[in-house]
Amino acid sequence: MSLRLGDAAPNFKAVTTEGEIDFYEYLGDNWGILFSHPADYTPVCTTELGKTALLKGEFAKRGVKVLAVSVDPIDSHLGWRNDINETQSCTVDFPIIADDKREVAALYDMIHPNASEKATVRSLFVIGPDKKVKLIITYPASTGRNFFEVLRVVDSLQLTANYSVATPADWKAGEDVIVVPSISTEDAVKKFPKGVKVVKPYLRYTPQPNQN
Ligand code: BEZ
Repeated sequence: MSLRLGDAAPNFKAVTTEGEIDFYEYLGDNWGILFSHPADYTPVCTTELGKTALLKGEFAKRGVKVLAVSVDPIDSHLGWRNDINETQSCTVDFPIIADDKREVAALYDMIHPNASEKATVRSLFVIGPDKKVKLIITYPASTGRNFFEVLRVVDSLQLTANYSVATPADWKAGEDVIVVPSISTEDAVKKFPKGVKVVKPYLRYTPQPNQN
């Protein structure tokens, strides 16, 4: 059965470009992003892994450890990684899993046979420090993901986890956030000293709590 939000992220051991890893040990107490690619030496994947490497500082700022997976063997990954570094002007130093037995792909339901019998689709999972699945997105092979959107969702998830706020449509970092429905307006006023704007009893905004 496929994974759903709130499920425990399955642990695994794997051979990667950074050596053998145990997924949970690699994550430690951090947030994690596990994302799959259809195949090595393909154009869209090359840009995606390059972009992820270039955003290393943004992921680190948020305490997020990234891990890529595709179903090609380790020798292929190592050669392709040189191409990514060369063409995308980056240094890929996060692990790329060599999932040639498709074990991780199966655990995370990354092969969608009606799209491709053999290759993984572009699956992305955000995993919380509690090892629960917080976000699942699935893109087709032909569409590269927007990694600024991935960062934006991580920001939203971390705000919810740390401050009990939600984020409205098209929210960007620094904009007002929404008080979650489970908090009464009376409690919200105490909890959010920057102020609470009540538009409707169920629609209440407050400035982003972790911004000056
Ligand atoms: C790729 O770059 O991974 C790709 C591009 C178009 C179709 C399928 C895969």
